[in-house]
Amino acid sequence: MGIPKPAFYIFKCEQSSPPGMPKPSCVREGTQDLFQHLGMKLMEKGLIATVVPVRTACLNRCQQGPVMLVEPGHYMYVELTKEKIDRIIDEHIIGEKPVAEYLISDEFWDEAISPMEAMKMAGR
Ligand code: FES
Repeated sequence: MGIPKPAFYIFKCEQSSPPGMPKPSCVREGTQDLFQHLGMKLMEKGLIATVVPVRTACLNRCQQGPVMLVEPGHYMYVELTKEKIDRIIDEHIIGEKPVAEYLISDEFWDEAISPMEAMKMAGR
């Protein structure tokens, strides 16, 4: 038997904007320690071997930040707090039932464009 692959990856946006920049970002005053909180909670629950937290740059949903993407499934969670992260771990990661009320709305998360279609649209 080989080394098991992870059950989940959690991509947490860790992008911050310079002070004074009007564009919103996921890491700002009051949200700097969410990634650390996520990692701590996964460790406390003994999940760190099978759930991999990953720091990412901008995931292009800055207006709804702080955001994190749970894979598999393309589940984009928005306006995160520590309390929301705890519930996502308990209900989605452990309970395998995504927390619908914390997910991005369909208006901002429509069906993906296939790479082939994207190339056609770009004239390639
Ligand atoms: S800064 Fe986080 S999605 Fe853009």
